[in-house]
Amino acid sequence: MSPAPDDCRFLKACRAEPTDVTPVWFMRQAGRYLPEYRALRQKHSLLELCHTPELAARITLQPVERLGVDAAILFADILLPFEPLGLGLSFAAGEGPHITRPIHEATQVLELPRVEPSTDLAYVMDAVRLAARALPPHVPLIGFAGAPFTLASYAIEGGATRSFTLTKRFMYSEPRAWHELMLRLAELVGAYLAAQARAGARALQLFDSWVGCLAPADYATYVFPHSQRALELARAAGVPVIHFGTDTAVFLPDFARAGGDVIGVDWRIPLDVAWERIGPERAIQGNLDPAALLAPLPELEQRVRDVLDRAAGRAGHIFNLGHGVLPETPVEALQRVVDWVHGG
Ligand code: CP3
Repeated sequence: MSPAPDDCRFLKACRAEPTDVTPVWFMRQAGRYLPEYRALRQKHSLLELCHTPELAARITLQPVERLGVDAAILFADILLPFEPLGLGLSFAAGEGPHITRPIHEATQVLELPRVEPSTDLAYVMDAVRLAARALPPHVPLIGFAGAPFTLASYAIEGGATRSFTLTKRFMYSEPRAWHELMLRLAELVGAYLAAQARAGARALQLFDSWVGCLAPADYATYVFPHSQRALELARAAGVPVIHFGTDTAVFLPDFARAGGDVIGVDWRIPLDVAWERIGPERAIQGNLDPAALLAPLPELEQRVRDVLDRAAGRAGHIFNLGHGVLPETPVEALQRVVDWVHGG
């Protein structure tokens, strides 16, 4: 008999309950390393795939079928809310996202339209419903959104950056407008996550991918209250919430205090040290370096075993990478990782 849906490994681990084996899934598991994804991308742009619920749902299922992971993540992008926000979004081949009308003036913040995710992003909810229905009951669907800081950084920079110069200048010189922007983004992503849960997502992840560029004191002042608000709104939907960031080692206790049933950590901190910092009662997700998947298999296995040894079989560990799967990753490497984590 198959277990009741809430008894699946991944959801139990989110609640820090013991599981038969450690659950595993991969950030960016639906993407370019998969030949069946690349085949669809030849015919459609990234935004077309996101905008078409049938295609988004199909891509969501691809890694589940290929890898036997314990959770699926919706195929979408954290920047989709920029379209109803009127910021304009496109993806240039090989260059990443481009925001047509970035926020450079304080006055632009007050002019942003109010977004109602369940209607303005209705196509995402349709994709959630289709994917949730098509998945096997023991593989829950994870809905997601970008965290206020990571979204604000794209809205201000207009695209990818290494230095976050424009973002920090805006934050330091226009603190009132900064907090207004963050407040609006927190309400938006909180409502967006809750709507995905109502449509059938059984867990949610908040991606604060770039928050590690900040000094700990700036995290506390400029980001913490807004992440806390977004996570509180998401949590009210009644499903577990994963709070993920990279380069968060030095302010991990604060990052964890902002909220999340599960804290996602990257490879820049050993898993056991991170777990100590966030508190042993909290669930943790991570933290293999995605580049380890490019190593020869014996090297890779050693690194997988190191992560598992540091978790030491304690309840509440979800195996994942410290950031997304790299496009160069061999499918076989991911398949082997799933086998090792599941005890093979
Ligand atoms: O499998 C999954 O994880 C689900 C799909 C997913 C995508 N983006 C699809 C995508 C998820 C969860 C995201 C989140 C996302 N998007 C984040 C947070 C996670 C992270 O990696 O830090 C961020 C920062 C973005 C913004 C974004 N989207 C960037 C910077 C880029 C370009 C960089 C790149 O990898 O090419 C994207 C494009 C994107 N989003 C792709 C995919 C599969 C690749 C584009 C393509 O197919 O051409």
